[in-house]
Amino acid sequence: MWSVGIVGTGSYVPENILTNVDLEKIVDTNDEWIITRTGIKERHIAPKDMPVSELCYQAGLRALEDAQVAPEEIDLVLVATITPDYAFPATACLVADRLGAKNAAAFDLEAGCTGFIYGVATASQFVATGMYKKVLVIGGETLSKILNWEDRSTCILFGDGAGAAVLQRVEEGFGLLSFELGSDGSGGKLLSQPAGGSKLPASLETIEKNLHTVQMEGKEVYKFAVRIMGEVSVNVLEKAGLTKDDIDLLVPHQANMRIVDAAVKRLGISPDKVVINLDKYGNMSAASIPVALDEAVKAGRLAEGDIVVMVGFGTGLTWGACVLKWTKVGIQG
Ligand code: UT7
Repeated sequence: MWSVGIVGTGSYVPENILTNVDLEKIVDTNDEWIITRTGIKERHIAPKDMPVSELCYQAGLRALEDAQVAPEEIDLVLVATITPDYAFPATACLVADRLGAKNAAAFDLEAGCTGFIYGVATASQFVATGMYKKVLVIGGETLSKILNWEDRSTCILFGDGAGAAVLQRVEEGFGLLSFELGSDGSGGKLLSQPAGGSKLPASLETIEKNLHTVQMEGKEVYKFAVRIMGEVSVNVLEKAGLTKDDIDLLVPHQANMRIVDAAVKRLGISPDKVVINLDKYGNMSAASIPVALDEAVKAGRLAEGDIVVMVGFGTGLTWGACVLKWTKVGIQG
């Protein structure tokens, strides 16, 4: 098995910003509540005519440029999203076409906010076996399009964006050292979009009842998240033969500052090793980790040989984490 690393990253968020103060005019909420309970100050919202494939395309383009890889070289485009352009065709096919990735297989993967970790773990298998040489993994979401903008318990939390990474073979001992993925479908109802699928097809009734929008039992998701983020981070470090002291950078899913704080406390690492951008973007679901990773890379927070841990949780329920020994130097062949 070859070693597999992330040799390029890119991200994109739509221009339009919705602040907490803007939200005060839409629902019964206030800036102070949102900041204290979540840490979010503002989020980016895609215009009505901008689908998630556009965000994914922009992020993918930037990742390819960063990796200095031509679209024709890509063997697989994998998009992690719960807000695809359509139920079908897959958003990954649309993105591959726009990028000019003519030689790529393409499919979507749905693991909620854990989508990017699932995507990296899945895509890396193709590269590790030598089956594919270069893979583009994108986490992209337009949660704003499936929110109930009258429900203050959900609409204040989410934002739109996309982040991408190019995976390629790297020098032995570098790249992905370990990963762990998990799921528990018994918690599926805690965070869902109940209507529009085969269980509850779209009807006038489902629309009237707002069942095409995000439904969440926030407190239950919160309790699960606080437990699982620390647990899975510890497990994945153990699998890599490392300890918390080896962590140079933690890139957690950006859902709620209190959830991140709990994970950091459990790990016992210094807060300056943690990437935080949820104040600017809110929870971007599958896009949250790759956008945070890209921003950290571009800010020079990762050097060759650094140990980076990415960890997330989401609808499903799902959770996952991975450990990388950082290098952006790819090996051809
Ligand atoms: O990627 C996974 C996605 N989901 C998550 O990560 C969600 C995890 N859960 C959370 O982050 C938190 O549970 C929330 C931020 C959603 C809510 O925070 P909380 O501390 O659990 O608040 P709560 O739901 O217990 O609500 C406390 C109070 C309630 O009022 P009463 O009953 O005490 O009078 C709510 O009605 O705050 C009220 N409230 C609000 N007030 C102002 C709920 N939402 C709002 C709001 N503005 N937006």
